[in-house]
Amino acid sequence: MDTFARFEQAIRDALLDTTLIPADLIDLVAPKASGVQADLALPCFRAAKLRGINPAQFAQTLANVLKFTPESLVLNASALGAYVNFSLNPVTFAQSVLHDISQRKAEYGRSNRGQNQAVVVDYSSPNIAKRMRVDHIRSTMIGQAIVNIYRALGYQVVRMNHWGDYDPQLGISLAAMQHFQHRNGNGESMLASLEQQTQQYHADDQVHDLAQAWASKLTKGEPQAIKLLQQLVELSLTANQANYRRLGVAFDVQHCESFYAREAQVVIKEALHYQIAQLDGHVAVVKDLLDEQGKALPTLLLNRSDGSSLYITRDIAAIKYREELYQPTKIIYVVKQAQELHFRQAFTISKTLGYTKADLAHVACGMILGPERRSPSGARFSTMIYLEPLLDEACTRAKAVIKQKALEAKIPFSSTEINEIAEQVGVGAVIYHNLQHDPAHDVVVDWERMLAFDGNSSTYLQYMHARCCSILRDFGRIPQNYDGRVLTHPAEQALLKELARLPQVIVDAAERYAPFVVSDWLYATAKAFAIFYDSCSVLKAETLALRAARGQLVAATAQALRNGLGLLSIAAPERM
Ligand code: ARG
Repeated sequence: MDTFARFEQAIRDALLDTTLIPADLIDLVAPKASGVQADLALPCFRAAKLRGINPAQFAQTLANVLKFTPESLVLNASALGAYVNFSLNPVTFAQSVLHDISQRKAEYGRSNRGQNQAVVVDYSSPNIAKRMRVDHIRSTMIGQAIVNIYRALGYQVVRMNHWGDYDPQLGISLAAMQHFQHRNGNGESMLASLEQQTQQYHADDQVHDLAQAWASKLTKGEPQAIKLLQQLVELSLTANQANYRRLGVAFDVQHCESFYAREAQVVIKEALHYQIAQLDGHVAVVKDLLDEQGKALPTLLLNRSDGSSLYITRDIAAIKYREELYQPTKIIYVVKQAQELHFRQAFTISKTLGYTKADLAHVACGMILGPERRSPSGARFSTMIYLEPLLDEACTRAKAVIKQKALEAKIPFSSTEINEIAEQVGVGAVIYHNLQHDPAHDVVVDWERMLAFDGNSSTYLQYMHARCCSILRDFGRIPQNYDGRVLTHPAEQALLKELARLPQVIVDAAERYAPFVVSDWLYATAKAFAIFYDSCSVLKAETLALRAARGQLVAATAQALRNGLGLLSIAAPERM
C-alpha cells in the first residue's frame, strides 16, 4: 500500500472505531471548498440522515471524538459544515513517502492490481509496402505508453501489431517489388524507393496489365506471387523495426490481416446463421444494428461479391481469435479517429455474436499537423510526415540545443556523449509532444516548444531529472540513516505530495487510456522540484539532519521522474 492509501486506511479505521458511522457510508473525497487546508474530506449527509440528525451537527460530533496519535499519518480531523476534513501529518508523511520510494526504487508506483488479467493492445498497425505515416506515428507512441501503463499495474499485456496487407493496389506493389528484386537494401529508404516506383507505375497504363497479372497470380496462390508478397512483408517489417527500436516499441505478435481471412469466413457464416446478416445475392449485409447505447448503426457489408472478406470482417475475426487465445479483460485499439464508426460496428457485431467478454475500447487518435497547422498532406509538411525523417530532424535540432547549453554551462561533453544525449532528447521530444494532450487532439509540430528547456516539454523534464542527478553527484553518498520528519517546509511538503501521487496517477491513466495523466504529473512534479530547489538549499542546508533528508528527497525525485518518463518510453539521461 502506498502512502496515500495508508492515509485513507488510517482515517477509515479511526471512523469505524467511533462506531458512529457504518463502513458503507464512509466515502472519502477530495476537499471541495476552496481554501480548505485539508487532504481528504468525509461528506456526512447520508450518515446523518440515517441517524435523523443535521449533517453539520453530525460532522461536529465525529470530529470531536476522532483522535490520532503522533505516529499516525493523520494529523487531525475538523468539521466544516457537513464535512469532516482530514489533514496529513507532515512529519510522518515525509518519512513514509521517502521510505516507499527508497524501498521500491524502479518499482515505485507499480502495483499488481491487474494480476492474472490479460489486456490486448492493438497499436501502430501500419500497412505494408509503405512508410509509416502520421496516424501510425501517433498510434505507435500512444499505444506503447498504454502498454507500459498497463504493465505497471501488473496486467499481462499482449502487444499486437495488426499489419494491413489488403491494399487493392497490391498488384502494383508486387510489380514494383519485382522491379527491385536484385537491389540490395532495406530500411525506410528502400521502402521509399518502392513507394516512388509504385507511384510511377500508377501513371503508366502499360504497367496496369502487369499489376493485374500479379494480383490474379496472388489470388490463385501462385508460389512466385506468394514469395514476392512475403518479401514485401519482410521488407516492411524490417524497415519499421529500426524506427520501433528507436522509440522503444516492441510487439509480442505481428500478424497481417490476411492471417484472419479464413476465420473471417466463419464470421460471415455465423452472422448469417444467427440472422445478424442477410444475404443479398452473394453479399452478407448487416442492417438495423443498434450499438451499446441503442444508437442505430449504418448498414454494412461483410464480404465482396467474390466472397472475399472485408476489413471489418477480419477485425471481427481477430477479436474472436484474441478471445480464444488470451481471454483478455480488455482489448484496446489505438487507431485514428476516422475509424470510430468502423470499431463501433465491429465491437457491436462481436458482442452480438458472443465472441468476447472483454471490454472493447477504441482510443481514437488525432492527427499530427505541420508547423503551419497544415494538414499532413499539405505541401510543405509532406516531406516530414514519415517517421524516420521526423525523428532525425528532432535529433539534429536537439543536438544544437544541447551543444549550446553545454557551452553556456561549460560542460565538456565528448561528441559521443552529445550524440547519445541528442538522440534521447530528440526522440523523447517527439514522443512527449504526442502524449501530453488528449489522444483525440490534433498535434501541431512546434520544434521550439518541443525542445525548450522550460515549460511543459520532455526536454524540461529530462533536464530536471539531470539536475537531480547532478546534485546527487555533488553529494557523494547520501546518508542512509536520514530522518524524513524534518521535511516540513511548504515547498518540501508540496514536492512530497506530488511524489506520493504516482501510484494513483498510473491507475487513473490506465482507466482513462490517457498517457497525458502521466505527463501532467511529470510536469507538476518537475515544477514542484524547481520551487523546492529555489527555496531550500540542499548541499548547504542549515543542519546535517536537514542536509541528509533533503538529499533523500532529491534522490526520491530523480527516481520518481525516471519511473514516470519510463512509462512514456522516454529516456532519462543523467547529464545534459
Ligand atoms: N492498417 C490500418 C490502417 O492503416 C489500421 C489498423 C488498425 N487495427 C485494426 N485492428 N483495425 O488504417
